[in-house]
Amino acid sequence: MREASRLRLVVGVSGGIAAYKAVGAIRAFVMDGHDVQVVATQAAYEFVGKSTLEAISHNPVFDSLYDDVSQVRHVALGQNADAIVIAPATAHTLAGIVAGLAPDLLGNAVLARRGPLVVAPAMHTEMWQNAATVHNVAVLRERGVVVVDPASGPLTGNDSGVGRMAEVHSIVSATYAAVGRSARDLAGVRILITGGGTREALDPVRFIGNSSSGRQAVALAEAARVRGASVHFVAGHMDVEPPSGIDITRAGTAELMRSAVLERLDDTDVLIMAAAVADYRPAQMSSTKLKKNSLGSNPTIELVENPDILAEAARHPRCLVIGFAAETAVNDAELLSLARHKASSKGAAAIVANRVNSGRGIGTDDNDVIVVSGDGRELGRSSGEKLSVAQSILDVVLHLRG
Ligand code: C5P
Repeated sequence: MREASRLRLVVGVSGGIAAYKAVGAIRAFVMDGHDVQVVATQAAYEFVGKSTLEAISHNPVFDSLYDDVSQVRHVALGQNADAIVIAPATAHTLAGIVAGLAPDLLGNAVLARRGPLVVAPAMHTEMWQNAATVHNVAVLRERGVVVVDPASGPLTGNDSGVGRMAEVHSIVSATYAAVGRSARDLAGVRILITGGGTREALDPVRFIGNSSSGRQAVALAEAARVRGASVHFVAGHMDVEPPSGIDITRAGTAELMRSAVLERLDDTDVLIMAAAVADYRPAQMSSTKLKKNSLGSNPTIELVENPDILAEAARHPRCLVIGFAAETAVNDAELLSLARHKASSKGAAAIVANRVNSGRGIGTDDNDVIVVSGDGRELGRSSGEKLSVAQSILDVVLHLRG
């Protein structure tokens, strides 16, 4: 993993159902080696327990203005923090910050802070779109507060819409960007990243697909952007939102993905093919929905091979091309040998290999990878949050670019 200097972070948790997701952000900061001090509002405890927050942050959790008064904790916390991150930030919390209210330890820490403030709002769509909240968010942005926009999707009730707290990796990378500690060592590098899975249609509603979530690719895109790269993202079908603030091309099939990638290669310095591209597609797509009675009891599907985008792109004279290999290997030795074979057969500069036995790697928040060069050298291993793994992969990119 890249050596990042240890940050002192205050993570404020306010009372919203997304408080459980704050645990993921705290864990990511701790795993990246930072000192995390959690400050919870009383309402936060309705959603997540103090013991959980203490266990995950490896620190006692503070919530009262009146503990440790001799240490002037309510001021010291804010003054000493490299950044304060509030996740989730409720509409009430946002309004309180705008008004400069300090009814609790978190409000005091926010007022006394010297470093940046990052807020990740989470609330129902109506509350997010209410004129008061819209105004408060605009005021916070004007004051330089980093607002990590909520995403769209299912909310706590039966409803769905904008208001879900942003994913952990977005909050984490926004924080690193805000403290300006991340080396901008990829400044000016044009990186094309593919992510998610392709779906190859059998008929208008059925397809051959895979369970790639796009999480590792999104983490790569976020990390590359924070490190100064200019990133274009080619998105297959994904479980997570594509990264915000990045150019995106949607490409749901192997053939669409091929065109989206190949047409950009001349303007790309590094291609990272994290997408799970289907190796085959149905020879024919029925324009009408296939009917059970017309297929008989033992139907077969004729498949044709898809273009191998990675192998084709790897022939580009200038672009550095990195592929992925998701393998059901029994151990690291087998994984390494499969990765070496893939790197040479595809002609890639490097292959990032991970084991996908029993649900690992695919669709999860963590990953465990070995990176090998095109000529079979092991370049590194990384495991942990997909954002940390992404940083390691980008370190390899830097190394290969010399
Ligand atoms: O051959 P396999 O599918 O295991 O190779 C995985 C790597 O090749 C991934 O980087 C994937 O994005 C890429 N790939 C591709 N085109 C295909 C199949 C896989 O670019 N048709």
